[in-house]
Amino acid sequence: MTPTQQQPIVEPVPADSIPDDTTGRALRLRIRQQELLAELGVLALQGTSFTGMLEHTARITAEGLGADYCKVLEYLPAENRLLVKAGVGWGPGVVGHATVGADLASPAGYALHTGKPVISNHLGNEQRFRTPELLVEHGIRRAMNVILQGDGSPFGVLEVDSRSEGEFSEHDVAFLQGAANILGMAIEQQRYQRKLQLALDRHQVLLKEVNHRVKNSLQVVSSMLHLQSAAVGDPDLSDRLTEASNRIAAIGHAYERLAYNADYENIDLVAYLREVIEDLEKSAAPFKIDFVAPDEIQFAADRAILVALIINELVLNAGKYAYPDGGSGSIFVRLVQLDSTSVQVSVRDEGIGMPAGFDPSASKRLGTRLVNALARQLDAELTQPATAVGTNFTLIVPLQANTKRV
Ligand SMILES: Nc1ncnc2c1ncn2[C@@H]1O[C@H](COP(=O)(O)OP(=O)(O)OP(=O)(O)O)[C@@H](O)[C@H]1O
Ligand SMILES: [Mg+2]
Repeated sequence: MTPTQQQPIVEPVPADSIPDDTTGRALRLRIRQQELLAELGVLALQGTSFTGMLEHTARITAEGLGADYCKVLEYLPAENRLLVKAGVGWGPGVVGHATVGADLASPAGYALHTGKPVISNHLGNEQRFRTPELLVEHGIRRAMNVILQGDGSPFGVLEVDSRSEGEFSEHDVAFLQGAANILGMAIEQQRYQRKLQLALDRHQVLLKEVNHRVKNSLQVVSSMLHLQSAAVGDPDLSDRLTEASNRIAAIGHAYERLAYNADYENIDLVAYLREVIEDLEKSAAPFKIDFVAPDEIQFAADRAILVALIINELVLNAGKYAYPDGGSGSIFVRLVQLDSTSVQVSVRDEGIGMPAGFDPSASKRLGTRLVNALARQLDAELTQPATAVGTNFTLIVPLQANTKRV
């Protein structure tokens, strides 16, 4: 809906209720000017583009003052001149090209440097200012100039010009200044938004860089632990170091995804877990990991890391204990989006099953304690559904963190 089509909040004054004498005509003009200022205000609030705002201001100002010409002048400090940035009424080659002097001897320059509005109703007899060439060429008889504030320093000047006889009044200059103020506010607002956007873009670049570095550092630590694991010569210690290396690598993959992601908070849980499982396959060999998941699940990266660490522990356990005789057993990892609020992760094997009487809540082993602690951190529900054969750990994880927790 364009602003002019909007329903007025106040009933308009019926045109025929205003007498058609001089006072009535003046009143009608002021009412029209108010409407035009309101229209310009709505355009500014709607986020009209910068160029659009300049053009609308020139059009609305010319209409409100019944003038043939109007121009938005942008101050060029290096040349101390004012460029016709937008306008109505001018022939080809003026808008975007013509300039007028911004010295105090020109009406526009005076308005710019003093901040005071200038009304020149008789340019032909003007003693105070020099009439700019552009106005002479177009046969302009009278003009008004007001300052156009920008972001901190003035943007330039709003000028209205007319070839007809008559006089611009104090009321007209108030209308002109009103239009300039709305445009100035819109210019300031848009510059502010551009600055904010730049700051946000920079913030995102930095965040990606940080994620990239975290990922690199984790990769280095993980590789070092892996090398150490091969060198210690103690099978138990070697296993521990490999597990630590796996955990760190799993976290590293999440940072890698974040570093190359458009989104800097969420990652695709499915693609991420696929990478983590690929790494685990090496540690769980010769057992195969059968991973089934939907195409994509967007998930907060910090929570995805916790899910990956749980899977890491459960899959390594299955690899270590489920099939003591070796062979061709499989480890099944399933990821299902239950509804719009939660996902279900299950790690299952078809091996020998948990030791009789094993109580996960009472276990002193690091693996079980880690899994329980990570599940609590995720506000997830960890269960062990009964299976005819092997073990089955199932985890229901809310998509969003419980914000009430501190
Ligand atoms: N998939 C499984 N199949 C058979 N037994 C299992 C399975 N997962 C775990 N267990 C048994 O549960 C015990 C506890 O596991 P947990 O992960 O807590 O400790 P761990 O693997 O022995 O040591 P850690 O994980 O601290 O290195 C294991 O020692 C193992 O006996
Ligand atoms: Mg374990």
